Amino acid sequence: MRLSASMQKELNDQIRKEFGACYLYLSMAAYFAEKNLNGFARWMRMQAMEEAKHAMKIFDFVEDRGGRVTLDGIDKPPPDFPSPLAVFEHARDHETKVSSGIHQLYEMAAAERDYATQAMLQWFITEQVEEEKTSSQIVDTLRMIAENTSGLYMFDKELGSRRSSE
Ligand SMILES: [Fe+2]
Ligand SMILES: [Fe+2]
Repeated sequence: MRLSASMQKELNDQIRKEFGACYLYLSMAAYFAEKNLNGFARWMRMQAMEEAKHAMKIFDFVEDRGGRVTLDGIDKPPPDFPSPLAVFEHARDHETKVSSGIHQLYEMAAAERDYATQAMLQWFITEQVEEEKTSSQIVDTLRMIAENTSGLYMFDKELGSRRSSE
């Protein structure tokens, strides 16, 4: 069963959004690098690369289903942020939005009885649980640290030890 025209359109848009997330996290990485918070910067770079992999997962899927990938423009990320906490709040809100978008795609695939797309999206649904959890845990820790600079210094070191997950 080939992808429907409407599903193809939505999946192409999801590719665009995943690259958009990649771009957003790169902008956050640049913000942290400028502040010499190199652990946070490294973490954000890795996050950005994961988003590019998400985009490519859907890219491959569209092709495997005999569809046509078409690339559209990606949103310009904010160039600056008010604070490290604000960065991670933004990231967390972004992930929450991504999750609901994925859920909408899933509903659409279910309505079309497109089982292959549902199976592919299940991976993303699980991934989003992790993404939301991680970003909100970081927000909570940054709130706890508040204005404590030595706490921020130590947390920067901790996030900097992130290993590439996939
Ligand atoms: Fe993603
Ligand atoms: Fe994500």
